Amino acid sequence: MTPTQSGSVAAQGASNLRERRAPPAVMTIFGASGDLTKRLIVPALYNLVRANKLSDDFSVIGVDHTDRPPQEWIQSLSEMLEQFTGCAVDKTAWSWLTQRLQYLCGDFADDATFTKLKILLAKHKQAPNGLFYLAVADRFFAPVIEQLGKAGLTEQSSDAWRRVIIEKPFGHDLGSAKALNARVLKVLSEDQVYRIDHFLGKETVQNILVLRFANGIFEPLWTRDHIDHVQITVTETVGVEHRGRFYEQTGALRDMVPNHLFQLLAMIAIEPPSSFNADAVRNKQTELFHAIHPIAAADVVRGQYNRGTELGQPVPDYRHEPDVAPDSNTETYVALRIGIDNWRWAGVPFYLRTGKRLTARTTEIAVHFRQAPYALFRDTPVEHLPPNILMLRIQPDEGLSISFSAKRPGQEIEIDGVAMDFAYSSYFAPVVAVGYETLIYDCLLGDATLFQRADTVEAAWQAIQPLLDAWSHDPPKDFPNYAAGSAGPHTADLLLARDGRKWLPIGGNRVQTDIPAAQQRSRLKVTS
Ligand code: BG6
Repeated sequence: MTPTQSGSVAAQGASNLRERRAPPAVMTIFGASGDLTKRLIVPALYNLVRANKLSDDFSVIGVDHTDRPPQEWIQSLSEMLEQFTGCAVDKTAWSWLTQRLQYLCGDFADDATFTKLKILLAKHKQAPNGLFYLAVADRFFAPVIEQLGKAGLTEQSSDAWRRVIIEKPFGHDLGSAKALNARVLKVLSEDQVYRIDHFLGKETVQNILVLRFANGIFEPLWTRDHIDHVQITVTETVGVEHRGRFYEQTGALRDMVPNHLFQLLAMIAIEPPSSFNADAVRNKQTELFHAIHPIAAADVVRGQYNRGTELGQPVPDYRHEPDVAPDSNTETYVALRIGIDNWRWAGVPFYLRTGKRLTARTTEIAVHFRQAPYALFRDTPVEHLPPNILMLRIQPDEGLSISFSAKRPGQEIEIDGVAMDFAYSSYFAPVVAVGYETLIYDCLLGDATLFQRADTVEAAWQAIQPLLDAWSHDPPKDFPNYAAGSAGPHTADLLLARDGRKWLPIGGNRVQTDIPAAQQRSRLKVTS
């Protein structure tokens, strides 16, 4: 994520790393027939071709255990791409890529697969760099890396790097994350490992650092003195879909919190790094995760969806989803109150919530500022004035808004809650992306800023481990406890109510304020 400037403020003649094409490389994708490859990795490569970011000496070897002619594999990728782009596939770009695709059938546990891969890779003399993408179930992460090591495929030289991208989930608790790191780092050095969290591939997530550190107006206010609390919401309307088997072992907490929600938390809460160098940023993230106050079970609400309606259609309860136990206690919703024990954030609660089958699909961060300190408007208790909220809309409807009070024109002083809004779509031309483009490109460039370091992953697991331990002795007694299509369990409201606060409505409009719409319209009449 090398920062550069563009547009009217472009630094003339500044070296612009991101305008360059990635170096020659062969990218080996383990899990070539899987969903991730078809839906995200290959479409991202196609978008990189269209943006002219790949070297002419770039190529892909897809490895999977399905024995099929290469043409059939490429055909399945084409069909998926057409589904995404409609008929608008750029034939030149797609054919540029497909000419560079090879398929290798092989078992991930079989030495022969890696011998064959070595022979194939050796034929790419013009591209000695190797990127191995593990788009496979997590049980294969360590075995594939060990096989790569055994075959001598992880050895680097001054003119050939070897890197490995590891998908999520990286462990299922602190112990397993540590064990996995230990196995991986026996074969690879840390700078060869790129642990992905796809939330960091989202433009709007990357923009949080730009918002905070490329502007002078926000950072002076970014402290406990001015911020009352922060709400981070990542909600989905879909249920568990066809992933029941995986989700039963995972649940909402493990699936979303120590990774995606913590990435959002980190972007909002880290101290300014000394540079955008990968380690400078990751040091600050790790430090932040270590500062998370031990999370007490009393500060957490979990839920599981009951049947209900989603977008007008009846949908089943979680326990009737495919591959889910009829008495499952897996949570599909979690809300947490998190404290950060450092100078900047002491006393400022961060409320996080995430879940499936909720009212709307949205990812947003609402930074609630403190009320004005003094009741200047005598007839109106100051706490009735709408608070200032900086709302970062990560997805969909990407953008941000800030709400504040304004005087309604007229002879008396009447105050309205109003908002200023910035929408990406009205300012920038749309960029077609699936969210993996920057991550793959950065890995090819050797920029690990948007990837997780071993100690960062462990620090995140460490923060939620006490909760995992507490839950393992205390199964939920009220599941299912929210209707599909609702805003989640009622107890999540109580979590904030006990602090005298309220969640913002899920996926409300962009001029949200903390007060109900009716109250906003009634206006506060004040005399000075
Ligand atoms: C994945 C989770 O990592 O992220 C899924 O495993 C979740 O359960 C998904 O649906 C959400 O990602 P996005 O980019 O669709 O918001």
